[in-house]
Amino acid sequence: MCEPTFFTVTYEINPYMHIEIRPDPSAARQEWGHLVSTLQQTGATVDFLAPVKGVPDLVFTANAGLVQGRRFVPSRFRHPQRRAETPVDVAWFRDHGFLIEQLAGDEPFEGAGDALPFGRPTVIVAGYRYRSSISAHRALGTLLGLPVRSLELVDERYYHLDLAFCPLDDRRAMVAGQALDRYGCRVIEALVPEPIWLEDDEAADFSANSVVVGGVAVMPACTPRLGKVLEKAGYEVVVAPVGEFVKAGGGCRCLTLALDVP
Ligand code: ARG
Repeated sequence: MCEPTFFTVTYEINPYMHIEIRPDPSAARQEWGHLVSTLQQTGATVDFLAPVKGVPDLVFTANAGLVQGRRFVPSRFRHPQRRAETPVDVAWFRDHGFLIEQLAGDEPFEGAGDALPFGRPTVIVAGYRYRSSISAHRALGTLLGLPVRSLELVDERYYHLDLAFCPLDDRRAMVAGQALDRYGCRVIEALVPEPIWLEDDEAADFSANSVVVGGVAVMPACTPRLGKVLEKAGYEVVVAPVGEFVKAGGGCRCLTLALDVP
């Protein structure tokens, strides 16, 4: 995770960002600190990336790249405004002993924001259109030696896959069908034995952008209905509000990047 010291909204690259609606720095700092301690209380170990001035979206570490074991595949950001993040991310991973592997080609790819491992045997579920391109998915499959299921994101409010798809375990995932077309929903049905489909308000509140640590789902928001479904499935729900970061189009999961990916 990366402390929001320099977090702000100075450009608009998704429908949530409005330069005239700036996040409040002290509220953002408080929400982020609360998210860190919540994750630590669930048993997670949190490592930190030092913030850098002038790179406000660096806080959304999910987009740094994709981690697999000790390999790190850096993102290639679609928007020039975020490209200065990549050297910072690469340096962190190199310093922490990861092998840096570049994705072939030059198509955009936004890391764990758009590519999430699911199930056993593992399949990479990957989103494309707004940020990552489908040809980058192909390059990713070749590089990782894993099957990739490409899903087209069809609603701009869900411009990254991690706003619409949240793996819980080998059988279950939260899914915002609102973000997908009919084919995408069928792919999910074939892949996920017990999908938990989100209602419109749950999807819009970024409930799919949750961090799952063992049996705990740390969520930006959760309705009583969804809470009951998750509890029945054996999950404890902890809500960590991140409204200041929603002003930049991100939730809890966007603010993290899992490093323990087998
Ligand atoms: N402002 C950032 C952007 O538009 C938000 C990134 C959210 N990250 C995510 N993994 N969905 O790129």
